[in-house]
Amino acid sequence: MRYDADLSFNFFAPTKVVFGAGAVSELVPEANELGIKRALLVTDPVLARMDDVFGRVRKALGALVVGEFTECQPDSGVDVVNRAFLAATRAHADGVISVGGGSVIDTAKGVSLLMAEGGELMDHVGFQNMTRPAAPHVALPTTAGTGSEVTYVAVIKDHTAHKKLLFADYKLIPRVAILDPKLTTGLPPQLTAATGMDAISHAIESMHSLQGEYIADGLALHALHLLKEAIPVCVKEPGNLKARGAQLVAATMAGAAFSNAQVGLVHAMAHTVGARYGLHHGLLNAIFLPHVVRFNCEDTRSAYAAIARAFGLPDTGDVCENLATFLADFAVSLGLEMHLGRLGVNRDAIPELAAATIEDASIVYNGRTVFDPEDLIPVYEAAL
Ligand SMILES: [Fe+2]
Repeated sequence: MRYDADLSFNFFAPTKVVFGAGAVSELVPEANELGIKRALLVTDPVLARMDDVFGRVRKALGALVVGEFTECQPDSGVDVVNRAFLAATRAHADGVISVGGGSVIDTAKGVSLLMAEGGELMDHVGFQNMTRPAAPHVALPTTAGTGSEVTYVAVIKDHTAHKKLLFADYKLIPRVAILDPKLTTGLPPQLTAATGMDAISHAIESMHSLQGEYIADGLALHALHLLKEAIPVCVKEPGNLKARGAQLVAATMAGAAFSNAQVGLVHAMAHTVGARYGLHHGLLNAIFLPHVVRFNCEDTRSAYAAIARAFGLPDTGDVCENLATFLADFAVSLGLEMHLGRLGVNRDAIPELAAATIEDASIVYNGRTVFDPEDLIPVYEAAL
């Protein structure tokens, strides 16, 4: 942990969080506060057809909307961000409002970056490259998992190179996040479960990160406590606003934790496989999480002990094995498929996947330092 290593850390979570069942009604005052006079509304084609989600937002914003971009896709690509930016330019927008899951919010982050910086999106790939604040961005998450509404990173896919690119800058963080659990009740059980496991992986990875620190730990631990209770209820009772709200807030807390402490090997593996096979990010995290807990164990045991306590696990036996078993059983109980082999990934692909995982930026912060792709082959094999 960075705190232990040099007794120093920074923590930055500048997003104003507005929570409430019906908090969409706060959109106009919040946009006014940011000085947005001409908003580009960004979403995906499915949500664009949902009157109780996108329709509500559009109605709440009224004349503030000067353009709509509704073509976001899962794992939004560079071309999608460029098209969305073109829509913003044509509409003379001065701010962005995103309504959707992580891909939609990340697309909007790309637009807010280009509105401030100009140039080509690919000029800005990497860490802390921005020279001025992004255009004002209000995010309304419709899933509860990515935490993108409060994080400093946009994950954008390069569909040609089959790579997920990270655009990471503290100037990219949305200014306001409106958390309205009513926007998440339409999310199907499988996506509720998978995005929930993404949030769990953010909290756990921020705690086993080399850049972990006390504030992020505090957010992560309470997020885990809430997620364990809320996700199963949200899966069984989609309309339960109290549980939906708890999962939504916990996902935001886990997002603020990892935006500061970073993620690790679970995300490096999920980025790698997700870019090649198009499998859901949260599902891949759920699959890899137990195996990475076992892999990291010797270097991250104290973090896993704290996590096991947050989950209320018994403190008998090996803490890493207890945690790994709990995480696998929890994901299965939510109805998630936990074997890569049943999702189209073959054993033959593993050496190349392991080699590519070493190149992913997230691996740098993993609690157990990994340089050799050979070390990852048993982890991939265990997940088959
Ligand atoms: Fe994630």
